[in-house]
Formats: sequence, C-alpha cells, structure tokens
Amino acid sequence: MAQFDTEVAVVTGAGSGIGRATAEAFAAEGARVVVSDVNVEGGEETVARIEEAGGTATFVETDVTDGDAVAAMVETAVSEYGRLDFACNNAGVGGAQKPAADLSFDEWQQVIDVNLNGVWRSMRHEIPAMLDGDGGVVVNMASILGKVGFANASHYVAAKHGVLGLTKSAAIEYAEQGVRVNAVCPGFVDTPLLSEGGLDDPEARKGIESLHPMNRLGDVDEIASAVVWLCSDGASFTTGEALTVDGGYTSR
Ligand SMILES: NC(=O)c1ccc[n+]([C@@H]2O[C@H](COP(=O)([O-])OP(=O)(O)OC[C@H]3O[C@@H](n4cnc5c(N)ncnc54)[C@H](O)[C@@H]3O)[C@@H](O)[C@H]2O)c1
Repeated sequence: MAQFDTEVAVVTGAGSGIGRATAEAFAAEGARVVVSDVNVEGGEETVARIEEAGGTATFVETDVTDGDAVAAMVETAVSEYGRLDFACNNAGVGGAQKPAADLSFDEWQQVIDVNLNGVWRSMRHEIPAMLDGDGGVVVNMASILGKVGFANASHYVAAKHGVLGLTKSAAIEYAEQGVRVNAVCPGFVDTPLLSEGGLDDPEARKGIESLHPMNRLGDVDEIASAVVWLCSDGASFTTGEALTVDGGYTSR
C-alpha cells in the first residue's frame, strides 16, 4: 500500500518544473492530485503523465493572483475527491533582473503578487478545507533566496523571505488544530524558470553551479521528495520548518 492512498493533494504551478515533479511524486505515493496552473497545456500534460503512470489527477486552470480562481481550485479538490490533505504552494515567477532602484512598480508588484500573495491566497482557502477534514499539511515553495540575498532579484528575494514569515506564523496559529505548515528552500534547480533567467548560457550556468559546494544544480525530483517527506507521518512533529535542499549553497 502506498503511503498516501486515502489522501488528496493540490499543487500550484504543477504544469512545469518542480511543481510537476511534486504532483507526480504525490501521485506515485497514491494521492489523488489536483494539478493547478495558469498554463493549461503544461497542466494537462502533467495530468496525462500521472495517468499514464497509473495515478489519479485532475487539472484546474488557476492563476494564483486571482482569489476566485484559487477558491475554485480548492473547491475542486473537495467536490471531486471529497477532501484536502496536502497543499504545495509552488507557483512562481523569476521576474525582471535589475537592481532594486531600477525596478518599475509593476515589475516589483508582479513578483510579489504571484510569489508571496499567491501563497497567502492559496493558504486562505486550503487551511479551512483541511480544518473541515482531518487536518493536513501545507508546504510552501520558498527558496534559498528566502534566507539570503541575491543581486538583481530584490523582489524575488523579498517575496521568498515573506513566504518564510508567513509559513512560520501560520505554523504557530494552526499547530494545535492538526495543520502543519512548512516550506522548502531549494538551491538553483534545472527548470524552465532558470533557463528564462539566462542560464541557457553555459558560462552563466557554470557560475551558478559553482555557488553550490556540490558544484551542480538540483534536480526537480530532489525537491519533490522533500515535499513528500514533509507531508509524511515521519514529519509529524515538524512544523514551521524551512527545509533547505541546496547542495550546500547556504552552508558556505
Ligand atoms: N528553479 C529554481 O532554481 C528554483 C529555486 C528555488 C525555488 N524555486 C521556486 O520553485 C517554484 C517552481 O519553480 P520552477 O523552477 O519549477 O519554475 P517553472 O517555471 O518550471 O514552473 C513554475 C510554474 O508556475 C506557473 N505559474 C507562474 N505564474 C503563475 C500564476 N500566476 N498562477 C499559477 N501558476 C503560475 C507556471 O506556469 C509554471 O508552470 C517557484 O516558486 C520558484 O520560485 C525555483
């Protein structure tokens, strides 16, 4: 028997990269998965991959900047599968790469609205659904850039630091009500988000790899497995944690 045979998970930004790997990892453990993304093609492909592997999933088009869409995403988990146990709030964007004073308000606001407000919007609907059931686990996708700064990414870094503050505060608020709230802080991971950030250039890629003592980028499955562990019974006393998965980046 797989460990999540009775559980239902929702993953935002599950049409690509870390979110897709996480949705697939939940499904491989037996969970029924609500695959959520603003990108319809990517989301539907994730569902197809899960179904081909013998799992159960459904796609809901969701822009995490739209509160009504996020509410509908959670309603789908409950109406389709009867409950919500796990939520991985993973949708995110990289944004423009510029020094803080050169960012326009719109550039600042877009990254904050997806990467920080989007996590809060999701939790706002996910937590009540979990409280209505048997409790649950929220895992927010932060970053090492929720712990340390990075030049030309102040909006992203501010949003990810904010995600950790939100995670820790909600962990305290719901600790006695059966809802654990944690975050994962990946180092740089090989995904489309990184390619869009200029890492298709081999020299730039080498430079980023060398920031990690393991001298490589992370793989999406290495992040997904951390999310699955945080949702497992093995993590039953773990809440408010910002679990770093970074090949040693922040240990330097
Ligand atoms: N790749 C990395 O190096 C890295 C490192 C640390 C943290 N992260 C975080 O991991 C998460 C996933 O990133 P990824 O690297 O897999 O990138 P990705 O670009 O492969 O996936 C991001 C997904 O989020 C979706 N998305 C974007 N805006 C959205 C919105 N408004 N509503 C709903 N979905 C939206 C995209 O359509 C895409 O499918 C992000 O939160 C990112 O900040 C990534």
